[in-house]
Amino acid sequence: MKIDMTVNGRNVSGEVEGRTLLVEFLREGLGLTGTHVGCDTSQCGACVVHVDGAAVKACSIFAAECDGAQVATIEGQGNADGSLGAIQQAFQDYHGLQCGFCTPGMVMSAAALLKDNPKPSEAEVRDYLQGNLCRCTGYHNIVKAILAASGQEVAPVARVEA
Ligand code: FES
Ligand code: FES
Repeated sequence: MKIDMTVNGRNVSGEVEGRTLLVEFLREGLGLTGTHVGCDTSQCGACVVHVDGAAVKACSIFAAECDGAQVATIEGQGNADGSLGAIQQAFQDYHGLQCGFCTPGMVMSAAALLKDNPKPSEAEVRDYLQGNLCRCTGYHNIVKAILAASGQEVAPVARVEA
């Protein structure tokens, strides 16, 4: 079947099967490989995107269900001039990524959280990230990055000068 949707502000269309997952359509149909697949049990959150403004695990929804939807992925989180968006920049500044595999999903979840709750507490950030797993176990700096992106005071990360 043919589906149409808006992805990162761009109108796209494609042929999918009824069983095609949104993450498959994004990655294989549109080449947007920033949305990752980290599990086959809908647990890891590496695939989080926004569908009509809500954070959704793209491995857990059919592409056909998103016909006509507004979808946002990590590729659309930068600024128009190509620089990093505020959340992305905070992840870099606060070392909120190690291997980086989970990072797109973390950033997309953070964006959804900050849209609804612009100044979350640390506990609220940690609670919201329950659906996002980082196997590097590096949650402290991820939480710091999200708090910093919300404009809150965060202790700086020690830097090692080269
Ligand atoms: S790929 Fe792991 S939750 Fe979607
Ligand atoms: S940075 Fe490695 S899994 Fe999160």
